[in-house]
Amino acid sequence: MDYSEKKKEIIKLCFEKDILVNPDFLNQLQEEELEKIQRFIAENEDINFLDKNIFENQNNEKQINKSNVKVLFNYQEESKKRTEQDFIAYFNSRYKALEQILKQRFELQDAISINRALAKTEKETISLIGLVEEKQITKNGHIFITLEDPTGKIRVLVNKDRKDLFQQAKDIVEDEAIGIKGTSGNKIVFADNILQPDIPLNKTLKKSKQEGYAVFISDLHFGAKNFLRDKFEQFIKWINGEVGGEEHKQIAKKIKYLFIVGDVVEGAGIYPGQEKDVFIEDIYEQYEECAKILSKIPSHISIIICPGNHDAMRIAEPQPPLYKDFAKPLYELKNTVMVSNPALLNIDSTPDFEGFDILLYHGFSFPYYADIVESIRNEGGMERSDLIMKFLLQRRHLAPSHSSTLTIPDANKDPLVIDTIPDFFVTGHIHTLGFAEYKNISMINVSCWMTQTDDQIRRGIVPKPARAVMVNLKTRRTKILKF
Ligand SMILES: [Fe+2]
Ligand SMILES: [Fe+2]
Repeated sequence: MDYSEKKKEIIKLCFEKDILVNPDFLNQLQEEELEKIQRFIAENEDINFLDKNIFENQNNEKQINKSNVKVLFNYQEESKKRTEQDFIAYFNSRYKALEQILKQRFELQDAISINRALAKTEKETISLIGLVEEKQITKNGHIFITLEDPTGKIRVLVNKDRKDLFQQAKDIVEDEAIGIKGTSGNKIVFADNILQPDIPLNKTLKKSKQEGYAVFISDLHFGAKNFLRDKFEQFIKWINGEVGGEEHKQIAKKIKYLFIVGDVVEGAGIYPGQEKDVFIEDIYEQYEECAKILSKIPSHISIIICPGNHDAMRIAEPQPPLYKDFAKPLYELKNTVMVSNPALLNIDSTPDFEGFDILLYHGFSFPYYADIVESIRNEGGMERSDLIMKFLLQRRHLAPSHSSTLTIPDANKDPLVIDTIPDFFVTGHIHTLGFAEYKNISMINVSCWMTQTDDQIRRGIVPKPARAVMVNLKTRRTKILKF
């Protein structure tokens, strides 16, 4: 079809749909633009005029949709060779960030550097801030912590007879930042108090002024044989207001945000023998098919997507947003916001409301803490994602121990430090479901959309699939929806 035929086609379409045409505007259009306009007219019902405002209106609409989603932290990949120097700089930046948080605690306002503590010869009450290099139990059952800051290392003794303190020290993990208040000895400190960066008590429970809902899901594993397609299609119907009673239909209309916290697709080559667990082997096709399903979500709902360890990219954290070449069909959906893992967003702000800060983290470090932290392990380990999330918020770090996840060191900033206190801390990965409040932060661990695989049986993951977590942003009331 040539240029003039295409124009005639558009005029015909406008005639059929009762749209008034500005001929000057039509004559100015380039050939590619004609196609775009034609598609736009065919897809949109409420167009009255075909003039230069047609696209401005469309762009404005997109703007309005997405203006309520502001991306505050989004890691962009920096490809360069990492050296040992980068690791040192990375730990220093982590120390500085957490030192700043710890120093806000009044008990640590007069904290001294470790080299000054080492020089003390008299018994004195001192306070210190450092990263835990090592934790050991002595022959007599006390706990020895080696604490490090940029000036040196010192040993801290936690006496087993100090029951509460000892219990607290048991949960200390390598590389976390702590403050110590204690008595100086000869190159040693006897701990009286252990302080964590934690969340201050004055954090308020924010509520939106306007009606609206946010929905959280994770771990679709699209392309896996175990993907619960029927259940997911049910979810899509629900979000379109096509199922459930009148109340549900009214709620569905008010959904503004849908968050997907990683493992969007099943991926390929993630674990040995994965080929037999997938029904779509090609990773490109996995994203393509996934985008087809997500395209059925009403376009006024912003879909925020971060990657997980199954997605087609490096698993070292931070993970940049899904790569455009693999996940192109997801980028092409007009209501998607693609972010890194972790990421920090602000949603639902208005001139008189500052909006909610949402911290998204897929959760790759979770199994490590479920296992290594005694108090979490004894309470159910992986089943207790609420305890894991609380543990991380107290440490203000998404993976305090270096060995709990793979990290790409960034010399300027440790992106896994929780420097901004979020209103919602949202995670996935372990395929269970957890929801709890901690100091006015809603901690949400969202489940998956697949049944248990052999690989998960080996790793002790018992999924609670096909659930969505829905939050009423005006009341902060949370509901778990089972599909
Ligand atoms: Fe997963
Ligand atoms: Fe995962």
